[in-house]
Amino acid sequence: MKSLVCGLMLSLIPGMVSASEIIKVEHISPSNSLIRVNADQGEYILLPVQEGAPMSHIRVLADGRLDETLNIMLAENKIDYFVPLKLKGRDGDNVLLDIRCDAGRSSMRDAKDGIWTKEIIVSDEFDTTNREKYRPLYHHTPLYGWMNDPNGMVYKDGVWHLSYQWNPYGSKWENMTWGHSTSKDLIHWESHQPSVDRDALGAIFSGSAAIDKTNSTGFGENSIVAMYTSADASQTQSLAHSSDGGYTFEKYPGNPVIAYDRESRDPNFFRDEANNRWVLLLASALDHEMLIFTSPDMKTWTLESKFGRGYGSQDGVWECPDLMELPVYKLNGEPTGKKKWVLICNINPGGPFGGSAAQYFVGDFDGKTFTSESAPEVTKWIDYGKDYYAAVSFSDAPDNRHTIIGWMSNWQYANDVPTKQFRSANSLPRDLSLFEGREGQTYLASVPSPEVDLIRGKAIKYGKSGLSKKGKNYMLPAQNDGVCEIVISVEPKDENPVEIKLSNKAGENVVMTIDPKADTFSMDRTKSGLTDFSEHFPCVTTAPAYSADTKKYDIRIFIDRSSIEAFSSDGHFAMTNLVFPNSPYTTLTVSSPASGKINDLKIYPVKY
Ligand code: FRU
Repeated sequence: MKSLVCGLMLSLIPGMVSASEIIKVEHISPSNSLIRVNADQGEYILLPVQEGAPMSHIRVLADGRLDETLNIMLAENKIDYFVPLKLKGRDGDNVLLDIRCDAGRSSMRDAKDGIWTKEIIVSDEFDTTNREKYRPLYHHTPLYGWMNDPNGMVYKDGVWHLSYQWNPYGSKWENMTWGHSTSKDLIHWESHQPSVDRDALGAIFSGSAAIDKTNSTGFGENSIVAMYTSADASQTQSLAHSSDGGYTFEKYPGNPVIAYDRESRDPNFFRDEANNRWVLLLASALDHEMLIFTSPDMKTWTLESKFGRGYGSQDGVWECPDLMELPVYKLNGEPTGKKKWVLICNINPGGPFGGSAAQYFVGDFDGKTFTSESAPEVTKWIDYGKDYYAAVSFSDAPDNRHTIIGWMSNWQYANDVPTKQFRSANSLPRDLSLFEGREGQTYLASVPSPEVDLIRGKAIKYGKSGLSKKGKNYMLPAQNDGVCEIVISVEPKDENPVEIKLSNKAGENVVMTIDPKADTFSMDRTKSGLTDFSEHFPCVTTAPAYSADTKKYDIRIFIDRSSIEAFSSDGHFAMTNLVFPNSPYTTLTVSSPASGKINDLKIYPVKY
């Protein structure tokens, strides 16, 4: 990923302060300090952060006017990392930071002793070079800071725009705004300035974006419109638009455009061309239902219907909806010629293995109302791992594609995973379709988007081999810490399970099991490496495999330093799990208690 702001932050190395300048902190009470800086002193103020330190609340004033507020864990006795606060480009050059700390200090000395007071600096540079062993190579991550849901996903003029819930001032959830990255191939991402910034209406929570091809909004033909939740005392829905192809957004002065009387968020909209209007889904989080609105111009909205009370998993809050029409295939992959609607509903908690997960409903949509074709008690999951949440699709994707990206984490431990400079990555992009299962149900199939094949290096081909109890070992590629794709086709004998194991020199392993009798695929990460940062992390996840033929399993497994995504090659199941091995997995072992066959095995090192 390309740097947002380049340069080497020499001040991180003690004694080398060169281009940076330490700034003076004035303490006016044990819990209140001031910093005065002028914008001509440098590009940024670099704020030292210590995770777990008491929260400080900073009001940033420019020429006496309030310009920004933020919450940050200023380092008390050790610095975990620095974050940059923009100094230049504010509405005034005299910048004042009014800092109030929650520490409950009793003396001025305590305030002065905080390490941040000695290490806070002004600098023209901020180093975003990766310092983390668990940062994935080919999955999207923020350059620094915390990330959760994907937002404002839209494809325009050959560019995929991916905004995301971002905290620019630390690697834990806070200060939500839309970070922004773009890609020309869904794999190589470039980081940009935030697309939508916080304002007086509140933090910027999740939302979506699409092209207004007909200028129905009056913001201009082919402008990009975005809608997001303004989160403060209440959650309301606001509008913004971009005339530069999605890089900068202007807020609609009439915001908020929806103020619903129940906690509601994460607007997701699409154009209903036939009816010359927009359709919007909004999650009524605590009521466990999705609200469906329509509008001619995105500014005035009519609530048409509600879907969900009593349907599917009701255990957690309902968040991040999406609605789309998809083609239906037979179990064997042949087209049926039919299309059906899918309503995506992310929930937290209540996932199949605890915490957050993405459920969906298949049915019909008549332009105003969604009807599920399944009974209320039927629950379906897009991904049967523990780390796939807030999955929504790109608007205006080419060739009528419905491409989704999820957040690879789980609210149970997302703030505690063992990374610091950044926290969390996105899943691989996946293309969606539907297939008919055996029990008369229609399910979602998700396959890695075709662009993912672009990073395949030269395949190491192992071909056919017999399966045995002892198993056969294969080396994983050494380059890039074993980052690779494994493509394996197995033929179990007499419904005996087949075990696919990844292991490392530290004795850690991940065990994946195909069970043809139950037609399931499972992944055990209980011994995968670092697991004790949360009691919710060690687990075994199991997916129904919905195989067309239980005599043959074709599986793709993507390993990227701290994540494993497994798919059946027809996309009938997907499973995403994080792992934090102490050293990279080096060996693949395939075994079975009976003598089945490996029909094909290829390992692709990743070329990135
Ligand atoms: C889902 C979510 C959304 C909300 C956002 C806030 O993970 O809770 O409902 O908009 O995160 O960051």
